[in-house]
Amino acid sequence: MTGVLVTGGTGKTGRALVEILRGAGVPVRVASRTPSPGDPDAVRFDWDDATTHRAALREMDRVYLVAPPVAVDPMPLVEPFLAEAQRLGVQRVVLLGSAIEFPNAPGMLELAARVRDQPGWVVLRPSGFMQNFLRPHPVAERIRQHGEIRTAAGHGRVGWIDARDIAAAAAAVLSDARSDHSDDYLLTGPKALSYHDTAAIITARAGRLIRVLDVDYDEQVAVNRAAGMPTAFAESLAAVDVGIRSGRDAQVSTSVLDLTGHPPRTFDEFARQHAHEWTGVRPART
Ligand SMILES: NC(=O)c1ccc[n+]([C@@H]2O[C@H](COP(=O)([O-])OP(=O)(O)OC[C@H]3O[C@@H](n4cnc5c(N)ncnc54)[C@H](OP(=O)(O)O)[C@@H]3O)[C@@H](O)[C@H]2O)c1
Repeated sequence: MTGVLVTGGTGKTGRALVEILRGAGVPVRVASRTPSPGDPDAVRFDWDDATTHRAALREMDRVYLVAPPVAVDPMPLVEPFLAEAQRLGVQRVVLLGSAIEFPNAPGMLELAARVRDQPGWVVLRPSGFMQNFLRPHPVAERIRQHGEIRTAAGHGRVGWIDARDIAAAAAAVLSDARSDHSDDYLLTGPKALSYHDTAAIITARAGRLIRVLDVDYDEQVAVNRAAGMPTAFAESLAAVDVGIRSGRDAQVSTSVLDLTGHPPRTFDEFARQHAHEWTGVRPART
């Protein structure tokens, strides 16, 4: 292996993946729009600037692919990148896909299908990230500022997964020497939980009552818009919550254990480690 280009290298899963790969002595290249000047492995990479793609890919034979965030249709930006990767002889592309269907965004499914045409492809399909309960995610901001979660997901459950477990699973498949190993993995935590369940766990760990306010689709779109999301993405995420409500995202898998040899972290472990995040905002003194 010559090295792994980690797109989204500064994000929730990418950062953790870089740490694991470095710990295992695997050469990495950390892609970011604003590469850290102190990091010799950092490279400028912007989905919106195709001139940065070739330099980022050069001499790397594996890629961890995090699609452009908040893009409802990532294909126009990712397709030329994948073609370039193939031209440069990249042997493995591991896509950070999603177990959660984005009903208004078929581009995500198209992207997974396109990656399956790539040599040595692996598609990871994680469930909702536990890190969505940490800032700067809007769910976390609302918990901190108002002690509440607003959701159209009702009592629907999600197999919440810690981003560090996704990174560990990605590291395992990126380090796999078998060139013919291509597969699709549903990645989840150990148990499916509703927002009501997660609020109860956070309440217990943070020592502060966190309420859940059930809202409908339109109100959820408004909440997402108010958090700064573009309309199409705000609608898509609200539709995700409606899907969760129907029970569609409650599945759990053993893939993290199977790939890494370690069971995935529980939501309670996650909440214990991050309890300080939810203790609330004190009003500024005047
Ligand atoms: N959150 C969930 O519950 C969940 C569940 C299932 C799947 N997913 C999938 O996980 C992926 C990551 O989502 P996330 O919200 O957790 O984000 P994230 O990986 O924490 O952060 C986004 C990353 O993308 C990079 N980035 C942003 N704009 C970029 C651009 N124009 N060009 C190049 N890089 C860019 C950022 O790097 P710089 O800012 O340094 O450039 C950052 O490293 C998404 O594809 C999402 O669909 C998320």
